[in-house]
Amino acid sequence: MIIAVSTFLLLSGCGSEPAPAPPAEPAAVKAPDGPPGADGPEAIPVPEFEVSADPTVVARGSRVFETRGCGACHQFGSRLVGPDLAGVTTRRTPKWIARQVLFPERMTREDPVAKQLFAELMVQMTNQRVDPSEIGPLVSFLATHP
Ligand code: HEC
Repeated sequence: MIIAVSTFLLLSGCGSEPAPAPPAEPAAVKAPDGPPGADGPEAIPVPEFEVSADPTVVARGSRVFETRGCGACHQFGSRLVGPDLAGVTTRRTPKWIARQVLFPERMTREDPVAKQLFAELMVQMTNQRVDPSEIGPLVSFLATHP
């Protein structure tokens, strides 16, 4: 038992190691400007949000990921029902991800990238009723899995 506990502590110690020293102020990560169309169709509404490296925001995003059931279809490091989400914030823009999460069915119909993913996976991502206010934390969490 003692061994199990100390192993856990060791592992959690390792897991938190790569985190850089916390910044004095929460750093707002500037959304990359993708090529035209990279944000998804302009007609699909997207809330104003910020991608943040603030650990509190990231933790909130992690809870959104859990409570909205994303893990039923996605994991980080391999494909499940949906695509591997490792590195998703490097291949898609934050706005594209927001549109995909909030309007997955519309994205399949109207966005060429989402359409392509659907053609490959042959499963329609479901609308998990993520609140627009949860999108910033959610994308911030996804960004911690480069
Ligand atoms: C029923 C399974 C399912 C659930 C639940 C689900 N997804 Fe998906 N997701 C998919 C599939 C399948 C795709 C590929 C697009 C398609 O076929 O509709 C996808 C695509 C994505 C993409 C784009 C991936 C890429 O490589 O560009 C992101 C980001 C994403 N999902 C995030 C989420 C988040 C966040 C949640 C939780 C709110 C979630 N998904 C819930 C199945 C799911």
